[in-house]
Amino acid sequence: MKPVLEVEGARKRFTLHLRDGLQLPVLDGVSLRVNAGECVALVGPSGRGKSTLMKCLYGSYAVDAGALWLQREDGERIDLARAAPREVLALRRREIAYVSQFLWALPRQPALDLVAERLLDAKSADPEADADPLDDTPYRAALEAAREQARTLLARLNLPAGLWGLPPATFSGGEQQRVNIARGLILPARLLLLDEPTASLDAANRRVVIELIREAKARGSAVVGIFHDEEVRDAVADRRIDFCA
Ligand SMILES: Nc1ncnc2c1ncn2[C@@H]1O[C@H](COP(=O)(O)OP(=O)(O)OP(=O)(O)O)[C@@H](O)[C@H]1O
Ligand SMILES: [Mg+2]
Repeated sequence: MKPVLEVEGARKRFTLHLRDGLQLPVLDGVSLRVNAGECVALVGPSGRGKSTLMKCLYGSYAVDAGALWLQREDGERIDLARAAPREVLALRRREIAYVSQFLWALPRQPALDLVAERLLDAKSADPEADADPLDDTPYRAALEAAREQARTLLARLNLPAGLWGLPPATFSGGEQQRVNIARGLILPARLLLLDEPTASLDAANRRVVIELIREAKARGSAVVGIFHDEEVRDAVADRRIDFCA
């Protein structure tokens, strides 16, 4: 069985232009493989490049050398390090989910729609050939179905129903993080990237997130995670990759 993700010798250095072009080597030939249904934890002290690797896998940063092979849903392998930007955007819509530590939200968009939108985006990547462009009935039905799924997930994550219709900008850190987790996990992604998803959560909500990550693995997602909380890491990770000095 081919791994869903295969990183081969990833290298990355930052050039600090404000410090006379000082070179900061961050990834020095990192390799790892993650199979479907498996979770690999990136472990190591602060500043060693764990989040940088995540951002390379999500296509936000380029690597200087190495390959980042993703086996797509259709069985093809694509090197994320060399993929065209539009291919990366298409993969983000359907196959790669990223839960960063910070919530990204459009101003004025309610939390519920921020989560439901993930499902609609994935659906719109695959339009029906014979759809009538002037008939919005299928869109409305899809929107309501997506909102219903989003409500179920937000309820599981104990986000008070009174907040669902509000934009998350004013939410507490833990509330924003739960919206972010719901957005990242509502879709069964092939590759799930989790950067400290439980950092601002209480014990009860950490347990819900552990359950959700286990369910994602059971559905066949390959998970790469950074978990400072050892209890969460032990509960979900099958292997660890050490980022040492
Ligand atoms: N865009 C950037 N430009 C310059 N330097 C950067 C950039 N992003 C990260 N770095 C530097 O790269 C190093 C690795 O950062 P990274 O965020 O990957 O660390 P980390 O292992 O995730 O740490 P933590 O456990 O604290 O989250 C740090 O020294 C950081 O300052
Ligand atoms: Mg980090």
